[in-house]
Amino acid sequence: MPSRSAATWEAPPPLPDGHYVSGRVYRDERMFAEERERIFKKVWHFVCHESEVAEAFDFRTVERADTPLIVVRGGDGRVRAFVNVCSHRGARVAMEPGGNARSFTCFYHHWTYDTEGACVSMPRPEGYRGTPVRKENMGLREVRTEVKWGFVFVNLDDDCAPLDRFLDGALDIFDRVLPDADLEVFHYHRAEIDANWKAYQETIVDLYHEFMHVILRDTQMPAASMDDREMRTYANGHVTIAGLKADYEKYEGWRRRDHSTCLPGLDPDDARFAPLFPAQTFIARGTVMRVDTVQPITPHKCLIESRGLGLKGESPEDRAMRIDHHNEYWGPFGRNVTEDAFAAEGCELSFGKGAAPHGIIARDEDGRGQCDSGLRGFWAEWSRRMGRPASHPTND
Ligand code: FES
Ligand SMILES: [Fe+2]
Repeated sequence: MPSRSAATWEAPPPLPDGHYVSGRVYRDERMFAEERERIFKKVWHFVCHESEVAEAFDFRTVERADTPLIVVRGGDGRVRAFVNVCSHRGARVAMEPGGNARSFTCFYHHWTYDTEGACVSMPRPEGYRGTPVRKENMGLREVRTEVKWGFVFVNLDDDCAPLDRFLDGALDIFDRVLPDADLEVFHYHRAEIDANWKAYQETIVDLYHEFMHVILRDTQMPAASMDDREMRTYANGHVTIAGLKADYEKYEGWRRRDHSTCLPGLDPDDARFAPLFPAQTFIARGTVMRVDTVQPITPHKCLIESRGLGLKGESPEDRAMRIDHHNEYWGPFGRNVTEDAFAAEGCELSFGKGAAPHGIIARDEDGRGQCDSGLRGFWAEWSRRMGRPASHPTND
């Protein structure tokens, strides 16, 4: 095949819309701001597992759609979420990443809020005489919160549909696992990488890149399930990959995993993935559950947060085994995530500065093998929510 000229390089690939993506979607500042309003402020986000706020008054601070949030378990046992911004003059109320507190006092002028979001005191209230400012109407802004199988989700849109409608059944690939497993988080890791958030999330949905992963070349690609595993797409851009089996002992130095240490409902070689739109992924691999989220920081930077989950109350030996299984695969120093980050950063080097005009997502293997149907599902939802086709998102 001959090499290409500038004209054929820049021209859209001779493929249907939806089978390729413009490089602009990874770098355009205006689209980046629109993504926050049209996508991230409208969808359900996984924020933490219940075990991270296990006791009454436990809280965690997180951020979604550039909005700081407090997730807190009230004295009544219910988990709620509030925008972590003081009603008075906008200071951050809770500054710590987490803890246990019966109330939150804003450092600036000492307005105090309880764990149900009510403003319970403000110093020298008589100064507001003759105004409508009363502690009774100065509570924190509450955010829609739902807990499914122990996983806490929030949505910044008060008018959003319930979580289950958003999920559209995508988490049902875990319905024999999660409802019966009493899980807790044993691993938390965060890393900022130099890539657009979508370039990282694509590495989760893209099965064709298994060639890149040293571990998957040994454990996954030669497995008998290679052509039978099934990728499904859902109404809201979610994707699931099930029927995928791994031969872990084929990786040098790894042992076979056995049934005695599996999570309920899983076989030792099971690998199930549910990348939820826009940027959150639930993964189960035999013995370990993992949840990853990606948050945009700039068009060229994103934050990856990862949690590893095991069974609550298990023996120290079983926990050590589960941590081993988690770390040899994911890390922080496992190979897989760093290789994915390397792929996303490698794309950023070209897309980020405009050197790559398009990306191709045209593989068709009927939703099996290394089909691109998941990537097309992701980009179809992005296009729908943005009101811009990803293949030609601008008119210029
Ligand atoms: S800004 Fe919080 S009390 Fe004033
Ligand atoms: Fe990967």
